[in-house]
Order: sequence, then C-alpha cells, then structure tokens
Amino acid sequence: AQGMKEEDKLYRHNGVLYPTLMSPAENLEALVELEARPDDVMVVAYPKCGFNWMVSVMRKIIEASSAEKVDAKIPPLIEFFGPERLKYLKEAPSPRFIGTHMHPDLIPASFTTNKTKMLVIFRNPKDTVVSFYHFSNKNPVLPTSESWDQFYTEFMSGDVPWGSYFDHALAWEKRLDDPTVMVVTYEELKEDLCKWIGEISKFFSFTLSEEQAQSIAQESTFNAMKESSKGSHGQMSTVFFRKGEVGDWKNHFSEAQSKEMDAEFERRLAGTKLGARLKY
Ligand code: A3P
Repeated sequence: AQGMKEEDKLYRHNGVLYPTLMSPAENLEALVELEARPDDVMVVAYPKCGFNWMVSVMRKIIEASSAEKVDAKIPPLIEFFGPERLKYLKEAPSPRFIGTHMHPDLIPASFTTNKTKMLVIFRNPKDTVVSFYHFSNKNPVLPTSESWDQFYTEFMSGDVPWGSYFDHALAWEKRLDDPTVMVVTYEELKEDLCKWIGEISKFFSFTLSEEQAQSIAQESTFNAMKESSKGSHGQMSTVFFRKGEVGDWKNHFSEAQSKEMDAEFERRLAGTKLGARLKY
C-alpha cells in the first residue's frame, strides 16, 4: 500500500466498495469458480462485527474436536483468495475453513445449493462504525478518514468497504430461519461466550466436552487473545485488538449522530428479530 494514493485504496465493483489491494475485481470475479461443499465451515460477518474473534474460536473448536490442524495456508476471506489460491482450495481436504465479509446475496450460489453451514456474526451498528473508523485509519490498505464525522457519514450512506451495514442486516434477517444459517451477535458472545461455543459446535456437528468449551472460552477473551496475538500479529496486534467492548460508541457519537442512527435503525430494522438482538 506504500505510495498508493488514498483515493485509489477503494474501488467499486457492482456498486459496492472493496479494498483495491486485497479484493481486486479479478478476485471477486474468480469466486464463481468456488464450489462449496456441504462440510465446509463458513464464517460470515459484516466488517468489524467480531469476525476474527469467531475465526479464532472456530479454529479451536475444529482442532479440539477432530485433532486435525486447520490448514493455515487458507486465508479466512474468500474475496482475498484470487485464482491461484482458489485452485489450492479446490484440492484442500475437508473440512475447509473459510469466511467472508460479503453480502449474503453475493456469496457464491453453490453455498446455498450445497447446504454449506454458515455462522454469521453481527454487532450493533454504533459500535461497528466506531470500530470500522479506527480500523480503516490504522490499516495501510484502507483509506484514512479526514475525521470521525466523515467516516460516520460514509457508513450511514453505505459508502464503506463491503457496503451498507443495514443492507447486510436485512438480508440476514430473511435467512434467520434457514437451518444452514446460525446468527450470533457480538453482544451475545460478550455475555456468555462459553454457552455460544457449545451452540456453535453443535450447529456444525463438532463434539466438544464441557471442559474443552470452557478452556476455549478462557483462551478467547479479549485480553487473552490480545496478549497471544502480540507474537503472531506484531505491530498489527493493536489494530485487530483495539478495545473489545460493548458501548464504546458513547465516546465518539455526537447527540445528533446518535439520534440519526436511532432513527435509521428504527426505519430499517424495527420489528426485526435480528434488530431485537443488537443491543446498544
Ligand atoms: P473494537 O474495535 O470495538 O475493539 P473484526 O474481527 O470483525 O474486524 O472485529 C473487530 C472487533 O472485534 C474489534 O472491536 C476487536 O477489538 C474485537 N475483538 C477481537 N477479538 C475479540 C475478543 N476476543 N473479544 C471481544 N472482542 C474482540
């Protein structure tokens, strides 16, 4: 990303913004080649909803219940793959562990036709936009905002990488009762991670003992993960592990922004089952 102009860091593909370096059009177009398998383990989240948290938890669940190492050569986001890695993925043994930030309607159709199970993570929009703002500013492949107000405005209009938060939420709302979809919210995970680790492993038909679930929960708290990431992520550790709390939006939102977001939430998500689970 060094030397890249700020305005070139994102580009539009079918109307949605993506990071130019990580998800070039070539990668997105190649995804039609990706043939999903019924036993793929797929994790899906709108950016900054807790994706990396659940990727780490999921990896631990798979490894604890099968004694198999998850293939580290497969990066979590399918939109980062490109044609070469897709070829590799085609040959990879099951269970393949993959993820995406894409809108559900843009996930390759074979995931639905082959009944691949998907774990979907959501988070309340106020904390999501705050997390997104900090991440974008610190990540060299994403543009730096002129101000919080500017990023907030872009988020509200859906002009952020991977598109509109509200569009994603409404699309998942329609699939909440699909037996191949399990939705969990960041707020629910913060409240009782151990319980959800049990639910998630049941959903994917992995068997975990109570002790295994408890020890995965202990290793997956914000502080434990931040500490252990210092070795693996180096400088990027503080970018991925920023605050890890519910309610940090209160330190960023103006009164007017808070009211506006409440009104938008009401307009788009009032009366939805998913909306009722997004506490802020
Ligand atoms: P904050 O910026 O609010 O701290 P994603 O992985 O989807 O990009 O989400 C990143 C958010 O998840 C960040 O939120 C990050 O701190 C938080 N996070 C990462 N690991 C976590 C954990 N173990 N527990 C709680 N939150 C975690």
